[in-house]
Amino acid sequence: VPLEETSLPLFFGWFLLPGIQDKVRCTSMDFLKTLDTLEAFKKHLPDFTVEAEKEVDLEQYFQANGVLHCTTKFCDYGKAEGAKEYADKLAVKELYGSAFELSLSALFVTPRTVGARVSLSEDQLTLWPADAEEVVSVVPAAATLPAGSRAHITLGCAEGVEPQQTGFDLLEILALQQEGQEGELVEEMELGSLAYYGKGRWLLSLREPISAQACFSSLYG
Ligand code: A2P
Repeated sequence: VPLEETSLPLFFGWFLLPGIQDKVRCTSMDFLKTLDTLEAFKKHLPDFTVEAEKEVDLEQYFQANGVLHCTTKFCDYGKAEGAKEYADKLAVKELYGSAFELSLSALFVTPRTVGARVSLSEDQLTLWPADAEEVVSVVPAAATLPAGSRAHITLGCAEGVEPQQTGFDLLEILALQQEGQEGELVEEMELGSLAYYGKGRWLLSLREPISAQACFSSLYG
């Protein structure tokens, strides 16, 4: 009996190949290492942590989890809404096991998560579920953002924070941009320009997007 007939996976997504996982982790570590030494970051520290600390070591603050991936559809073994429909999509069946080049266009940090924004190509969007941005109860403006806006790679979560928070944090920043808030340009870093969006939200737009080889597959967990 094929596995897909017995149960659906925990989630479908693009899984980064080992070499590029290391590169993305190193880039993220370098960014965190620099960010928490910046005067601008220290100035906004009270937005970042409620505790009356003078400093925070961001590399310690966030915990990494598992293989780096960009979730397309969270299925929860079939319990999630639309899971079966997604698994039955022609594109999902045809492209299962294929290699892709993901474009990582930005890194972002909030008091809850650190992640990379993934800018999906037209081809990649055929694997993107139509309901991914319909999370109005969490991020009210999200439904007005283009499909694919939520695409991201979770790089780390603060203690007690669930990984799905990373996508909500990204949508919040993109919703602010859509409303015309460009963020306060803080610094031109080697990796790109760093902007502050209030409430401890930082976005680094990469000068050179990171091209990441990834396999479209699923995780049963
Ligand atoms: P993300 O894609 O933001 O990293 P968990 O370990 O909590 O079971 O989650 C497994 C993966 O599925 C994680 O990558 C996680 O977040 C994603 N995920 C978990 N719950 C949801 C959800 N309700 N909607 C979308 N993605 C989810």
